[in-house]
Amino acid sequence: MRYTGLIENYRDRLPVDENTKLISLGEGNTPLIRLENIPATLGKDVDIYIKYEGLNPTGSFKDRGMTMAVTKAVEAGSKAIICASTGNTSAAAAAYAARAGIKAFVLIPEGKIALGKLAQAMIHGAVIIQIKGNFDDGMRLVKEVADHAPVAIVNSINPYRLQGQKTAAFEIIEELGNAPDYHCLPVGNAGNISAHWMGYKEYFDDSKATNKPKMVGYQAAGAAPFVKGAMVDNPETIATAIRIGHPQSWGLAHKVQSESNGWFDSLTDTEILAAQKLLTEQEGIFCEPASATSLAGAMRDIQTGKIPEGSKVVCTLTGHGLKDPDTAISQCASEMININPVMSEVRDAILNNM
Ligand code: F0G
Repeated sequence: MRYTGLIENYRDRLPVDENTKLISLGEGNTPLIRLENIPATLGKDVDIYIKYEGLNPTGSFKDRGMTMAVTKAVEAGSKAIICASTGNTSAAAAAYAARAGIKAFVLIPEGKIALGKLAQAMIHGAVIIQIKGNFDDGMRLVKEVADHAPVAIVNSINPYRLQGQKTAAFEIIEELGNAPDYHCLPVGNAGNISAHWMGYKEYFDDSKATNKPKMVGYQAAGAAPFVKGAMVDNPETIATAIRIGHPQSWGLAHKVQSESNGWFDSLTDTEILAAQKLLTEQEGIFCEPASATSLAGAMRDIQTGKIPEGSKVVCTLTGHGLKDPDTAISQCASEMININPVMSEVRDAILNNM
């Protein structure tokens, strides 16, 4: 049967009925890839799976939530949606609004969103409002303006977003036959970690799984309010997707941590970029910097034994590497070889680099 998106696939578990017009781009059903080379380099006996959410239609997990949020906005008669974004939400909002034939307004922090995401929001025809401020400023403004203009908020404070995103946990359980022991995610607003926990609990309660994972949330060191235990006013990290200091799902995520016996931790930008490169070079999987935070954290916790040997670990890679070409290229620019167009120079370049 033709796959037509996650709402159709999980219709009975989502707030739609037979009259709801579905706004879908075939999102969900992303690959769960078992790492073959990295576990050996860690010298530990662990099974690590990558949930490659970068393979959603707009290149990030946001599509799972956006198909639900835009479907419900259209059902309610909205003609326009709005979001604040570090980039991926704006790309997804722009695309799903285009699909639905409605308008998207996106508030982005000036100069702080990756090039691919900006290109997406622009080409899909969103109205782009650049603010001299960060994501947290944008989020505050979106909440304020929604009372003064006819726009539906599609940030993850919209409960339909989390409903859509919980389906990633369903897919993982269906593929593994049960929930993993640990599920590691990058955390910004903490909507996604909260949505996954909802999904795991739902399948557990319905006896579709006999276990639930410990949920582990990793943040960038310069934007780690969950690790500090307090909001951060001037978040900073190269992983611009998670450059957030005032997470919207603060309470929800703390509940996830305590209910699942998981934890929060942080990684430096250097550790994040190293994990991104390791994954591309050793496994052939390209994700954006923020996404690599989950693997960077998992690797560290596996090495220290906090995640014990024998564990089954899922790391979500939230966004595709092509979202942020600048950061990728700037990490590798010195490795390029420049030659004259003659065979001998090509040959030397090969022989010197075997
Ligand atoms: N990874 C990526 C690639 C993201 O874009 C985001 C969030 C996260 C992780 C964190 O997810 O907020 O649910 O904890 N990006 C939002 C945006 C903020 O505007 O695109 P979270």
